[in-house]
Amino acid sequence: MATNPTTIGLVFGGHSGEHEVSIRSAVTVLSGLCSGTNVQRYEVIAFYIDRDGRWWGPDLANRVLATRQPIDPPDPLPPKGFRSLPVDSEAVEIWYPVLHGPYGEDGTVQGLFKLMRQPFVGAGVLGSALSMDKLAAKTVFANANLSQVPYVGLHSSDLTDPYQRKIIFDHIETKLRYPYFVKPANLGSSLGISKVRNREELEYGLTSAALLDSRLVVEEGVSARELECAVLGRDSLKTSVVGEVHFDADWYDYDTKYTAGLSSTVIPAELPENVSQRIREQTLKACVATGVIGMARVDFFYNASTDQLWINEINTLPGFTSQSMYPMLWEASGVTLDQLVHRLVQTA
Ligand SMILES: Nc1ncnc2c1ncn2[C@@H]1O[C@H](COP(=O)(O)OP(=O)(O)O)[C@@H](O)[C@H]1O
Ligand SMILES: [Mg+2]
Repeated sequence: MATNPTTIGLVFGGHSGEHEVSIRSAVTVLSGLCSGTNVQRYEVIAFYIDRDGRWWGPDLANRVLATRQPIDPPDPLPPKGFRSLPVDSEAVEIWYPVLHGPYGEDGTVQGLFKLMRQPFVGAGVLGSALSMDKLAAKTVFANANLSQVPYVGLHSSDLTDPYQRKIIFDHIETKLRYPYFVKPANLGSSLGISKVRNREELEYGLTSAALLDSRLVVEEGVSARELECAVLGRDSLKTSVVGEVHFDADWYDYDTKYTAGLSSTVIPAELPENVSQRIREQTLKACVATGVIGMARVDFFYNASTDQLWINEINTLPGFTSQSMYPMLWEASGVTLDQLVHRLVQTA
C-alpha cells in the first residue's frame, strides 16, 4: 500500500558569500529528491533566503531554482516582520538546509529548526558551530590529538593598539615560518584568506581579514596535496573513499574553486592504502570530537615526501553541486545521488 510522501523543506540561498554556490547545490539536491524511488517518497517545498536574509516561499524559490540565478530583494523592502518563516513552513516534516557558510553552516539555522522541534538534515548546533569556526575547531582537534599545521589565533582587537600589535606580530614570527595563510575564522570558499610572505603582507592580510571577522587565524603554510573524505550517517558514521583536489594555481583560492576548468578532482586519490586508512580514521575521530553527525566533508593536507598528514577543516554543509566532491565521493563509494539524499534525509 502506498504511503503519503514525506514533505521536505529545502532551504537554500542565504545571507553569505556562498549564496550562488548554495543555489547550485540546491538544484542538485532537488534533482536527487525527485529521482528514482524518491519520487514516491518525497514532496519538496522550496524556501529561498535572499542575500539580505529574508525568507521566500515556493513561488519565488522555484523560480530561483529554475533560472539558477539569485533574486535580489525587491525595492522598497517588504514590511518589518517579513523575515518570519513563510506560512507554508507548517507543512514541512523534515528540513533540508543547503546553506553554505555563515547563517547556515554555523549552527544558526540548525538552532531555529531545533527551537521549532522539527527534524533536519545534517550536523546539529554544536557540530556546525564548532566546525565553522576555524579557531574553535583547532582547539578541539588539538584536544583529540589530531595533527594540524602550527598556528596562532588572535582577535581583531589585538591589532588596534600599536604596542599589542608589535607583540603579537613578533610572537607569530617566532612561532611560525613564512609563508603563512591568514584566515578569518568564520568564512568559507577561501573568502578573506591570503597567503603572506613577509611582515608587510602579514599586516595587510590581517587588517583585511579583520574587516570580515573578529576571530583570526595565522597558519604556517605547508606544501602539500589536498585530500578530502566524506562522512554520512547518524548513530554509526560511514566514510567514503578519499578524493584529491588538483588545481592550476598557487593555492585553492575562490576563483580557482569556482572557475570552470581551473580545478579537477581525482577520485579515489592515488594513495598508499595505509594513508587512505589514516585519513578515514582521522575523519571519524574529528567528527566524534566535534560532535558532527549527518553529513560532512573533512579536508586534509598531505606531504608525500615526509608522509606528514594534517587535518585542515570540517565542512558540515559541503558543496553539493553536480561537480562537488561530496556527492562524487559517495558516487565512487557506490552511493548514487538519489540514494545519498535519501540516506541524508534518514539521518534527520
Ligand atoms: N596552512 C596551509 N598550508 C597550505 N595551504 C593552505 C593552508 N591553509 C589554507 N591553504 C590553502 O587555502 C585553501 C583554503 O583554506 P581553508 O582553510 O580550507 O579555507 P576555506 O574554509 O575557505 O576552504 C586551502 O584549500 C589551501 O589551498
Ligand atoms: Mg577549505
